[in-house]
Amino acid sequence: MWVLIFFWLHYAARLCNGGVTSSYIRKPRASVDLPLELFPSPLGFNAPEQVHITQGDRVGRSMIISWVTPIKPYPNEVTYWEDINGKHGHKHKISAKITSYRYYNYTSGFIHHATVRRLKYDTKYIYELGKHNTTRRFHFTTPPQVGPDVPYTFGVMGEQIYSRVNSIMYSLYLQFMLMYLGDLGQTYDSNQTFEHYVANRKGQAVLFLGDLSYADDYEFHDNRRWDSWAKFVEKSVAYQPWIWTAGNHELDYAPEIEENTPFKPYMHRYHVPYKASQSTSPLWYSIKRASAYIIVLSSYSAYGTYTPQYNWLQQELPKVNRAETPWLIVLLHSPWYNSNNYHYMEGESMRVMFESWFVQNKVDLVFAGHVHSYERSERISNTKYNITNNLGTPMKDASAPVYITIGDGGNIEGLANNFSEPQPSYSAFREASFGHAILEIKNRTHAFYSWYRNHENEPIAADSTWFYNRYWYPHEEPSSTKN
Ligand SMILES: *[C@@H]1O[C@H](CO)[C@@H](O)[C@H](O)[C@H]1NC(C)=O
Ligand SMILES: *[C@@H]1O[C@H](CO)[C@@H](O)[C@H](O)[C@H]1NC(C)=O
Ligand SMILES: *[C@@H]1O[C@H](CO)[C@@H](O)[C@H](O)[C@H]1NC(C)=O
Ligand SMILES: *[C@@H]1O[C@H](CO)[C@@H](O)[C@H](O)[C@H]1NC(C)=O
Ligand SMILES: *[C@@H]1O[C@H](CO)[C@@H](O)[C@H](O)[C@H]1NC(C)=O
Ligand SMILES: *[C@@H]1O[C@H](CO)[C@@H](O)[C@H](O)[C@H]1NC(C)=O
Ligand SMILES: [Fe+2]
Repeated sequence: MWVLIFFWLHYAARLCNGGVTSSYIRKPRASVDLPLELFPSPLGFNAPEQVHITQGDRVGRSMIISWVTPIKPYPNEVTYWEDINGKHGHKHKISAKITSYRYYNYTSGFIHHATVRRLKYDTKYIYELGKHNTTRRFHFTTPPQVGPDVPYTFGVMGEQIYSRVNSIMYSLYLQFMLMYLGDLGQTYDSNQTFEHYVANRKGQAVLFLGDLSYADDYEFHDNRRWDSWAKFVEKSVAYQPWIWTAGNHELDYAPEIEENTPFKPYMHRYHVPYKASQSTSPLWYSIKRASAYIIVLSSYSAYGTYTPQYNWLQQELPKVNRAETPWLIVLLHSPWYNSNNYHYMEGESMRVMFESWFVQNKVDLVFAGHVHSYERSERISNTKYNITNNLGTPMKDASAPVYITIGDGGNIEGLANNFSEPQPSYSAFREASFGHAILEIKNRTHAFYSWYRNHENEPIAADSTWFYNRYWYPHEEPSSTKN
């Protein structure tokens, strides 16, 4: 009898706190200041460096190609052609717009942005920058034409890229040290995982959740860190578009050194196709890609009633046609549902402003970064509260998005391993470690999602689940298939 009651109580407790807090504990790792010399520029006078691409229009038929030349603005052309089973198509040339900026006592190189247009769908293109013996060649593949059942796979990354930089740098640093120490005992999982992501190419484009270089963690926001970060991620972002979201580390607002223009380095270096979605700011915009409609918001720009971002989003949501793009995905930096004590409730005011719109419009997924741990929510909403009615609890809601936080681990402040206890009912899975996710959209109803923890030498699928489309198939999903 007592045993039964005990079991019943135990079971009831599990029902109340249905979520999983993973017991995986990542090994602590030292954080080392990274020598800039470990990010050399490519060989040759004025060779193009820091190459990166992103979608350049509404539907994926344009690409913005960006790069930096350190000494002279010219040559300033992209040469590109279609790759037809290894044979060259007709060559095209296009010039870039050139910009540069000063930040405190730093002067940037010549930053080039060229938009190549009228590309064919689902086609491999090769492009070249530089000239003579500094010519550098890259390639990318355009997405298939926008349509409801077009499969497409996105990689999703938060700021963990920084820790990848960190640990790659750290292990290079160690290799220098090793000449003296002779100890090869440790592995750095994050480098391995980044190499994996780059090598297996399952992801066709990256949804990047903000906080790029962390230059602002250095004295006077040492902008050379923007250069080194861009060199580091080039091996992925020169070959597949990264869809950019701005985080708090992009603000670079420093009145103490008379740097009063928020987002100055970020906006000079990273261009996005915001005008194509009638936005007035590169900090919020939308694109369509295959079967997905992706809305990017700015957690660090005004979003109160009547502000430009508020007005834009209000007009934007009714434009989404789920018969054309079934999957409605939102990217923002500061999470709305986060049960970590780190950055706790920083996203709350934006949630209060926009959550009811997301539920009304049946947003499928909301990805956020910022918090240095991983968390996936249930489908819940908390939109009833109105000051007088005492209704302020997240409730199960089949029209609500799943909120996923993919933040960093292993940066200077270390891991955010202080979760609030008990695990709140809205939290389905949480783990104090870091990694990246792969979202495989199969058709208008099904998408398979996996979050890969960076574990020792290989990525481990620590949280995998099917997502069912909220518009076409709003059934309850199975809970995590692995942990
Ligand atoms: C490139 O060519 C120039 C002369 O045209 C030469 O001076 C230079 O050393 C070459 N650089 C490399 C990296 O081969
Ligand atoms: C910028 O100022 C800092 C601090 O005074 C100094 O260490 C650094 O060398 C300066 N950099 C340049 C490019 O002048
Ligand atoms: C990073 O991982 C790749 C792939 O395993 C390896 O070839 C490379 O040497 C590693 N780099 C460092 C700095 O450890
Ligand atoms: C707040 O909610 C209560 C209870 O649902 C309702 O009676 C009241 O009209 C609401 N107030 C506002 C301002 O919407
Ligand atoms: C965890 O967070 C709570 C709430 O902010 C705080 O009181 C506590 O000191 C933190 N614990 C650690 C180990 O940082
Ligand atoms: C959509 O994809 C899922 C998963 O691959 C599959 O089970 C389902 O049958 C597909 N639906 C259609 C209509 O093809
Ligand atoms: Fe952040």
